[in-house]
Amino acid sequence: MRETGDSVAIRLRRLGREVGARAGRGETLLDALLAAGGPVPHRCRQARCGRCRVWVAAGAAALAPPGEAERRRLGAAATGARLMCQARVAAPEAAAEVVVDA
Ligand code: FES
Repeated sequence: MRETGDSVAIRLRRLGREVGARAGRGETLLDALLAAGGPVPHRCRQARCGRCRVWVAAGAAALAPPGEAERRRLGAAATGARLMCQARVAAPEAAAEVVVDA
């Protein structure tokens, strides 16, 4: 198990349920949540299908900014949205928790 300082808590809220995990630096939200065994919507893992889109409710500072493929898929109007298959933890120490709503 990772030490707390090397990872950040991730919480996905969806359909009245929550899935929790810890994600280390460089890890995507999707991989962390799947490793924790949660039911997590996804399909392509390549910023194409949009099924893993979430809205970040807290802890955005822990995530790397979206790359070009993610920005293209989300579009300009999706402020606060991320794709879990693309959103990677960059600074686990920057937030106590990352909370996302599907
Ligand atoms: S799984 Fe398809 S965009 Fe993330």
